[in-house]
Amino acid sequence: MAACGDEAALAPGGDTTIEDRTSQAYRLPAPNLDADALALHLDGDVAFEATFVTAPAPVNGGLGPVYNHTSCIGCHARDGRGLPQIGTGPTSQSLVRVSLAEGTPAVPGGAVPVPGVGAQLQDHAIFGAALEGTPTLSWTDVDGAYGDGAAYQLRAPQLAIAWSEEPEGAVMTSLRQPPPVFGLGLLEAIDEPTLTALADPDDRDGDGISGRVNYVWDAQLGRAMPGRFGLKANTPTLRQQAAAAYVNDMGVTNPMFPEDDGAIEIDAARLDATAFYTATLAVPARAAANAAANRGEQLFDQFRCTGCHVPTLVTGDSPIAAVAHQTIQPFTDLLVHDMGDGLADGRPDFGADGREWRTSPLWGIGLAETVLVGARYLHDGRARTLDEAILWHGGEAEAARERFRRASSSDRAALVAFLMTL
Ligand code: HEC
Ligand code: HEC
Repeated sequence: MAACGDEAALAPGGDTTIEDRTSQAYRLPAPNLDADALALHLDGDVAFEATFVTAPAPVNGGLGPVYNHTSCIGCHARDGRGLPQIGTGPTSQSLVRVSLAEGTPAVPGGAVPVPGVGAQLQDHAIFGAALEGTPTLSWTDVDGAYGDGAAYQLRAPQLAIAWSEEPEGAVMTSLRQPPPVFGLGLLEAIDEPTLTALADPDDRDGDGISGRVNYVWDAQLGRAMPGRFGLKANTPTLRQQAAAAYVNDMGVTNPMFPEDDGAIEIDAARLDATAFYTATLAVPARAAANAAANRGEQLFDQFRCTGCHVPTLVTGDSPIAAVAHQTIQPFTDLLVHDMGDGLADGRPDFGADGREWRTSPLWGIGLAETVLVGARYLHDGRARTLDEAILWHGGEAEAARERFRRASSSDRAALVAFLMTL
């Protein structure tokens, strides 16, 4: 791993890195954008922050009839993560994906939609429209102990859905908290051979860590492509992620996902600007490390956290010059891994099964609580602290978690101190 003071290590986004560790750190344009790219980025910023209202408003009309929130930024707070809050209120930021175990998928290899609901529960409706259902979230305590005997308590989510109309067939559910949206153009520019080289589906090297590319349906190309975005790497491109968010999260039809009769509520220019915005947000520079954080960085390697949270990758070609050919430190392999029973949602998403999740990028994670007071971790926001996030790791990550759980309290603190410099 890079030694302390190494410039590449301190600039995790390559030339897109920005020296800012304030609450604004996730929402700044990459400093290496040229004037045209910056102008498009700023158009996208306006689009990302726009609040949609009920039709027929001329500019931001088209909300609903059912939706989860009224703006991108409403869920991705300051372009970071959202909170594990769901239901009819205005603070609802997470969402529930739903599907049936049997039936015909909406697209090849995808989820089987729940009749009348689709593959996502929209828990809001405009005036006069029928609500699909109301989810409620509660938490149960899970007790555990570190190797040195010190007790800890985790919490597991309990999701219940009061359907407006009870669906036929057993519904599989997956609760998802919004992840941050900076640095994503770099992740889009990692070429497919790099991902397949990281994958080890049959664990040939025998380290207990496999990792698979999740091949998902690309709506633009009309074929399966490597998934990169979403918590199960269930989406291939930022354009598709934005288009799906418009239509599913806000009920705003667009060129990729129009009305049945072809009608759209936002045009291609606006969709493209939104996607470009999420592709060109700067990555915050790492904080200077003290002795504990340097020790933590060594432990991160020794515990084999790096088996999935791969520190250094190099991006390939990209239509966006600012993100092409950059040496970056995202701390992810973009692959999906079996994370054990504790984290399993039991709901497949394309090639990812009910136990698999995409390795979360860890860049910027030390700023999560600076950007959003009360920020939570893991796909459903169950972890209140970084310690808790690590303690939930199971499956392919069980050995790494055990090394952490059995470590001395000072080594555990050092590992977390390292994460806080990211
Ligand atoms: C209701 C809250 C909500 C709204 C509104 C919302 N998102 Fe998201 N976003 C999420 C959640 C939850 C995920 C994770 C989805 C998954 O795993 O399937 C996500 C994932 C993403 C990702 C992938 C990030 C990554 O690391 O893979 C991007 C990019 C994104 N959203 C952009 C947008 C854009 C652009 C908009 C507005 C057009 C938007 N989102 C609106 C909740 C929201
Ligand atoms: C087998 C692969 C694997 C290994 C090994 C692994 N992780 Fe993870 N990590 C993941 C995946 C996958 C997730 C997302 C899980 C989820 O959201 O349910 C994750 C999530 C996290 C998160 C939460 C990120 C967020 O944005 O909420 C932290 C922190 C983290 N890992 C730290 C570590 C540390 C520290 C180690 C070593 C002790 C480690 N991980 C080892 C795969 C791994």
